[in-house]
Amino acid sequence: MGKSVLILNGPNLNMLGKREPEIYGSTTLADIEQLCNAHATSIGLDCTFMQSNHEGELVEAIQNATGHHSGIIINAAAYTHTSVALMDAIKAVGLPCIEVHLSNVFSRESFRHTSYISLAATGVICGLGAKGYVLALDALADTFDQQK
Ligand code: DQA
Repeated sequence: MGKSVLILNGPNLNMLGKREPEIYGSTTLADIEQLCNAHATSIGLDCTFMQSNHEGELVEAIQNATGHHSGIIINAAAYTHTSVALMDAIKAVGLPCIEVHLSNVFSRESFRHTSYISLAATGVICGLGAKGYVLALDALADTFDQQK
């Protein structure tokens, strides 16, 4: 069996497709999940995709990744800019972690320029839409190859 990646999505990402389409486009979270599953399979990885509007659920998912997943992709959405708890959880499990944002957070309001997740992440991809998740899967696949 291939290595497994946990793909986490934070608050309001369940609204993609309807939510601020001028920023986030028309792609839904279900579309992104499908894209991730197809790409993960094509590069020999398994992935588990989840979304929550609750910080504690995301913290628990990260904690429970140990022993089940080899890496994490996280779009923490608004929690990116506020959550010490998510940063600590990522540091605690010590798994390679790629932070993804659909939009270019650096071209938006200044409060989006601060990311607690970046302090714990291996790498960050933003502004490339759903393609960012695909690139994050490729980045983790490279990391796993280097670990061999
Ligand atoms: C986001 C950017 C965040 O600032 C925002 O709160 C989101 C989505 C993105 O994917 O571009 O909800 O993480």
